[in-house]
Amino acid sequence: MLRTHTCGELRKQDADKQVTLCGWVDKYRDHAGIVFIDLRDRYGKTQIKFNLEDNSDIQQQARSLRHEDVVRVTGDVVLRPEDMVNPKLDSGDIELRVNELEVLNKSLTPPFLIDATEIPNEELRLKNRVVDLRRPELQESMMLRHQCTKIIRDYFHEKDFLDIETPILGPSTPEGARDYLVPSRIHEGCFYALPQSPQIFKQLLMCAGFDRYMQIARCFRDEDLRADRQPEFTQIDVEMTFVEQDDVLSVIDGLIAKMLKELKGIDHPMPLPRLTHAEAMERFGSDKPDMRFEMELTDLGEIASQCGFGVFSKTMESGGRVRALVAPGAAEKYTRKMIDGLTAFVGDYGARGLAFFRVKENGLDSPIAKFFTEEHQLAIIEKMQAQPGDIIFCVADKESVTSAALAALRNRLGKELELYDPKAFSCLWITEFPLLQFDEDANRWVAEHHPFCYPHLDDIELLESDPGKVRAQSYDLVVNGYEAASGSIRIHDPLIQQKIFDLLQVSAEEAEGRFGFLLEGLRYGAPPHGGVALGLDRWVMLLCGYDNIRDVIAFPKTQKASDLLSGAPSRVDEKQVKELHLQLDLEEE
Ligand code: AMO
Ligand code: AMP
Repeated sequence: MLRTHTCGELRKQDADKQVTLCGWVDKYRDHAGIVFIDLRDRYGKTQIKFNLEDNSDIQQQARSLRHEDVVRVTGDVVLRPEDMVNPKLDSGDIELRVNELEVLNKSLTPPFLIDATEIPNEELRLKNRVVDLRRPELQESMMLRHQCTKIIRDYFHEKDFLDIETPILGPSTPEGARDYLVPSRIHEGCFYALPQSPQIFKQLLMCAGFDRYMQIARCFRDEDLRADRQPEFTQIDVEMTFVEQDDVLSVIDGLIAKMLKELKGIDHPMPLPRLTHAEAMERFGSDKPDMRFEMELTDLGEIASQCGFGVFSKTMESGGRVRALVAPGAAEKYTRKMIDGLTAFVGDYGARGLAFFRVKENGLDSPIAKFFTEEHQLAIIEKMQAQPGDIIFCVADKESVTSAALAALRNRLGKELELYDPKAFSCLWITEFPLLQFDEDANRWVAEHHPFCYPHLDDIELLESDPGKVRAQSYDLVVNGYEAASGSIRIHDPLIQQKIFDLLQVSAEEAEGRFGFLLEGLRYGAPPHGGVALGLDRWVMLLCGYDNIRDVIAFPKTQKASDLLSGAPSRVDEKQVKELHLQLDLEEE
């Protein structure tokens, strides 16, 4: 080894030892001829010191050291004078008096400093990811990610799950995003698709009798990217045989409890709370409610029907809804101008307006208060359980718009009014999603999740009479308002699977073509099975308290799916294109 210790290792009790350290020059200071350097590696930092009386060669070399140079130093560990102890550094009681210095490599001037207090801009960071990854935040998130996968592997191993790999080059998979395609050289005109998830293969593994499967699986989806979405990401993919929904959820409950405890010291209430999709939509307007704070939606339909405000009464007449929420203590904080900002904000979710009432001791203060009798005003206050000093915000529209607008407003107000501890964790399961959704544009039913979810046993009859009402045996894990995991009990009966394909207007031919190998698997004695996939990147992002998954992925892509470090995607040689039997139809540059 080139070193005897790491830069985070030395303590008081190592005083007087002769040691050798290797690392990067983090900070350097020249104080009246004494050069101090913070030497850094993954494990921490140690202050190293070059004295005046030291041999002049070393002195000179030390003076020429700059940020990010890589050095090897040998010297004596000495206790720092009491007034020089640095409590912020684990090794702050000691420093290293250097006798030998070897510059292992010089660095160009880095594009930004590793300990810059202001985070450099994203583009610069991603282009210079190697330097960026040295920043303590990213070092920590990579280490936390590793700890997560270690706990995950151990946990599933102890529970008899087998880690089995599924193909990366495969058929198109049905998660609903666009595929990344890989042209085949050998089979002219044919393509592999990178997996959007291992869904079909994990179901086949259950058919093959492996009973319990897990995989830390890379998935690829060509979809619109957001802060919590990358084109390639990682799932903790799980599937179990001879189980019901409760069995799957309790395995994941155990995993979440373990990770929160071991990594964050948090004892989350267990089992994780559950809410049906219908209840979540009614109470929070969202299938991923942030449960760190309350602020539930309330239906004001009855009063709205009777009041003199045309927007409200007409909405009720046309079968819409009037729903509201209370922003506690907001009356003082939100000026008219700020409320105009909130109105524009809910407009992005389709709301045509945002009615608001400041709650007073004896009634409501609002530009539209005149349309409400005193009796109605008091009824609103009572129904909303509002207090003087609160603001009631109200949206009248078709149900889906009231949900989307108020759910978004709820999240925004929760944050702005600091209604929760940003370090808190609140996890819950949302269950019983609708099985199908009506796609107005295509004028047909589409699967809400994927076409393999088992319908709720009580709703099988409705498949023919009222498909929109059929609930699925499906579930999402929601953490602080993010969808962290998703899964379902699967259809193991080829006849029911056929029924679902019929409903989705997937012809027998198309079903055979796309999923024939799954259907075939189901025909040879498929056991009841179900599973779930946890988005590892999102989970680690939440653990780290970040709001972008790029910060927990070593080499992430931009919003436009490019890798600024390597330059991917890039043009390839014409010869390579030809070999793949492709012809490019490029616009002239
Ligand atoms: P789903 O498509 O819901 O389910 O994905 C499961 C989880 O994966 C994460 N996730 C993503 N993370 C980052 N970037 C993305 N683009 C991205 N897309 C999804 C989310 C999500 O909850 N086969 C099913 C699972 C099953 O039924 O077992 C599936 O893939 O955290
Ligand atoms: P208007 O009559 O359009 O000037 O609106 C009066 C108030 O009612 C304004 O504060 C609007 O934001 C609000 N408003 C208008 N339409 C709606 C709606 N669909 N839901 C809730 N409030 C609305």
